[in-house]
Amino acid sequence: MTDQFGREINYARISVTDRCNLRCRYCMPECGVKKISHAEILSLEEILRVAEIFSRLGIRKIRLTGGEPLLRKNLPTLVRALKNLSGIEQVTLTTNGVLLKNFSAELIAAGLDGINLSLDTLDEKIFSELTRRKLFGNVLEGLQTVLGARLSLKINCVPLRGVNDGEILRLASWTEKNFIKVRFIELMPIGCAWSSGLRGIPTAEIFSTLEKNFGALVPVREKNSLQGPAKYFRPKNFVGQIGFIDALEHKFCGECNRIRLTAEGFLKTCLSFDAGLDVKKILRAGDGDEEIAEKIRDAIYRKPREHFFSGTTNFQMYQVGG
Ligand code: GTP
Ligand code: 5AD
Ligand code: SF4
Repeated sequence: MTDQFGREINYARISVTDRCNLRCRYCMPECGVKKISHAEILSLEEILRVAEIFSRLGIRKIRLTGGEPLLRKNLPTLVRALKNLSGIEQVTLTTNGVLLKNFSAELIAAGLDGINLSLDTLDEKIFSELTRRKLFGNVLEGLQTVLGARLSLKINCVPLRGVNDGEILRLASWTEKNFIKVRFIELMPIGCAWSSGLRGIPTAEIFSTLEKNFGALVPVREKNSLQGPAKYFRPKNFVGQIGFIDALEHKFCGECNRIRLTAEGFLKTCLSFDAGLDVKKILRAGDGDEEIAEKIRDAIYRKPREHFFSGTTNFQMYQVGG
């Protein structure tokens, strides 16, 4: 379906939990967050029901997010069920990789199409400081289990001034011989990122560092209407790609194709606003699929035109899954 500004909405990001086994300084407070009771979180059956309604409204891609989605029980079962929905062409996952080695085989067997793995550094000490957890080894092991698998693999790195600046080239150089994408994301001033004191590094600066080392970055133009906001490039003779998500430098709202469902069942139609619909409420009030679909259609139609990162949302990144 299209929204009031004529944008085709075909991509839903579904957060399956707001819990996480890391405490990244730009995302979560050290003490963690107020635990939501199990009953407040959508059940897998409810998620599936909403996803089926989404697919009827034209959603063709679903990305499962968190918190950390692999903390949710039976995630591979959900992946399999989502893959079986008619109209859903891709089911993907964004994970921090800590539990990946336990689930990668099952996820692949369930038909998962892609994994975005958050990895801001290849240095164990920097990892522990940034995530406040000593779990770097688990992430690397998890990554090993999916390198070379038949799915799309993207590494997400948020460059932070004075923290992982020295890691950028190391991470990017993985794309020379591996068929993966390494993406650099501008730190967005949402939730803890405001108060953490951390500063992101602008895409233009990363871009020029990479060009100095690898030569010209040649744009890769993929015709893919299900793609997110990253722009991709490839240095000469590299097999992988380097991507940039410059959320601050450039707004990609004009091409936005996505909606988000929080673990608590709120349909959030823009990352930076609280506009949307309490889907859990209408699900549990006993509305039929047709009625729910109409209300969702109406909420999507009213999706905001563009974001303003200036305190316009009360949601935290771990609640909306990025
Ligand atoms: P794919 O293209 O499907 O791989 O998705 P993606 O790159 O959007 O997914 P991922 O979960 O890996 O998110 C990467 C970064 O992009 C995170 O920091 C997200 O917060 C950010 N992001 C995703 N969607 C949006 C969006 O609509 N607006 C903004 N500003 N940032 C977004
Ligand atoms: N700005 C940019 N990216 C962020 N992420 C989490 N918080 C922020 C933020 N404030 C990223 C994580 C992960 C992805 C889902 O979102 O690093 O890769
Ligand atoms: Fe967890 Fe991802 Fe937030 Fe880090 S950025 S604390 S891995 S949800």
